[in-house]
Amino acid sequence: MTLHTLESPAGTAVPTGATSRRTFAIISHPDAGKTTLTEKLLLFGGAIRLAGDVKARGDRRRARSDWMKIEQARGISVTTSVMTFDYGGLAFNLLDTPGHEDFSEDTYRTLTAVDSAVMVIDAAKGIEPQTRKLFEVCRLRDVPIMTFVNKMDREALDPFELLDQIADQLALDISPITWPVGMGQDFKGCYDLTGDRMLFLEGPRERAGNVIACSGLDDPVLAAHLPARLHAQLTEEAELARGGYPTFDPASYRQGHMTGVFFGSALRNFGVRELLDGLARYAPPPRPQPAADDRTVDPEDERVSGFVFKVQANMDKNHRDRVAFLRLCSGRFQRGMKLTQTRTGKTLAVHNPIFFFAQDRQLADEAWAGDIIGVPNHGALRVGDTLSEAAGVRFTGLPDFAPEILQRVRLDDPMRAKHLRTALSDMAEEGVTQVFKPLTGGAWIVGVVGALQLDVLSTRLDSEYNVKAGFETAPYTTARWVSGPKDKVEQFAEKQRAACAEDRDGALVFLARNAWEMTRIQEEWPDLTFPTTKERH
Ligand code: G4P
Repeated sequence: MTLHTLESPAGTAVPTGATSRRTFAIISHPDAGKTTLTEKLLLFGGAIRLAGDVKARGDRRRARSDWMKIEQARGISVTTSVMTFDYGGLAFNLLDTPGHEDFSEDTYRTLTAVDSAVMVIDAAKGIEPQTRKLFEVCRLRDVPIMTFVNKMDREALDPFELLDQIADQLALDISPITWPVGMGQDFKGCYDLTGDRMLFLEGPRERAGNVIACSGLDDPVLAAHLPARLHAQLTEEAELARGGYPTFDPASYRQGHMTGVFFGSALRNFGVRELLDGLARYAPPPRPQPAADDRTVDPEDERVSGFVFKVQANMDKNHRDRVAFLRLCSGRFQRGMKLTQTRTGKTLAVHNPIFFFAQDRQLADEAWAGDIIGVPNHGALRVGDTLSEAAGVRFTGLPDFAPEILQRVRLDDPMRAKHLRTALSDMAEEGVTQVFKPLTGGAWIVGVVGALQLDVLSTRLDSEYNVKAGFETAPYTTARWVSGPKDKVEQFAEKQRAACAEDRDGALVFLARNAWEMTRIQEEWPDLTFPTTKERH
């Protein structure tokens, strides 16, 4: 008798459950190799077939909406995308972070949606400013970090110098997992310090003989395969490294205190598999998420919950669509499910949730804590919103930041004032800008963290809302929220009316001309505080 089974090609089973999810981001300074590494990770994950697809897809996607022309023109990435792939029986969600410093708010929010990060460092440059900034954001939430020292196929800094730089500048415990053998022209590969194997750079990785198992550094097989000088250097350095740095401690890594370090070359596709194996082995599954009223939501909780960390409007200009990126924090999500939006109490049936793949989007029938789904909507969802089955949950930790650049909006055609209001309010909900309406009336004031955001804003106002607007310098250097007893806040608004405005939720902000004025105001109003962040409700 022949048994017929349903076709199920090997390796295609999609892992299920929150424990199988590994949601992470790559942080790096521009040019360190984030895109190249992403591509190679996706290649291993089978999500793309040919290297080069990430960029190709990027171009296609960019072509879809006009404002992304800025990305093309400036050669930078200002949006966050999500890519999903399976590896080692796990489902990986890789969140791309914008590489430009002007978009630190967007990046901050993306990093609230991950459970771990990979830090890419250019071996010739070491820690660069943007790496440090992004690292600091990760540190705020103790996000566990694996380090990939890239471009070993080029002349690089001495590995000890690099590791000491990471340890000193980032105050992290360092544990090298692989050790480079040579560099630049001489780069032969890496020695796996934890598994005693020599991984050779040359040849396709799948081919036998490329990896040599050893009994230790003194195994004659090593000497037989390496030039004498490099063999001597490896033996000395690896001994020193083993003695000088702590062994990798998964618990310390998961607490965000220790980073495991891999050396390699993303371009040569070397060291990437080891990194991915390291992630599969050690990267944490979805973490419990902090919520208001001192609650935390456990990923194993059966009721579905999640928060919106990004909204992207007009991905398809013809349909005025908006996609909210929802990070699921608990439960098993199913298509068509009804979820409550905590801010408004309204119920939303999620009929067309989207999964993002490297090359495509697909309808998501089922998703788990750790997954990111796109929820198309017509403006109902905002960054910071919680959606859940259980009423009353509100996730925290997605604040607005006090803007560092404030400009008055100048409208060329007064007949478009209503459109401008809609456009600004949409852009504020997306988190592209903050908007303030002065109490004394007058032009809107927009607040951004980086100047590039203004370019994005004016391009989008024009192309998506047909509103031609410019920006003029406003005499303010910061906008601070005003917090304290209600009567005092009202008194303050009355006295300082000329320098006060309302944000998009109607909360009072004080517009300060300079730091000196801010200090004076704080001294004059000791009952009030002027926070630099506001939790989104
Ligand atoms: P980013 O996303 O972090 O900005 O960096 P990206 O991957 O775009 O890489 C920046 C440049 O560094 C690219 O060269 C890329 O090919 C190169 N690169 C990345 N990884 C390695 C590596 O391991 N070794 C070497 N030698 N180079 C590497 P480009 O000339 O700017 O771009 P392209 O023309 O190659 O696309």
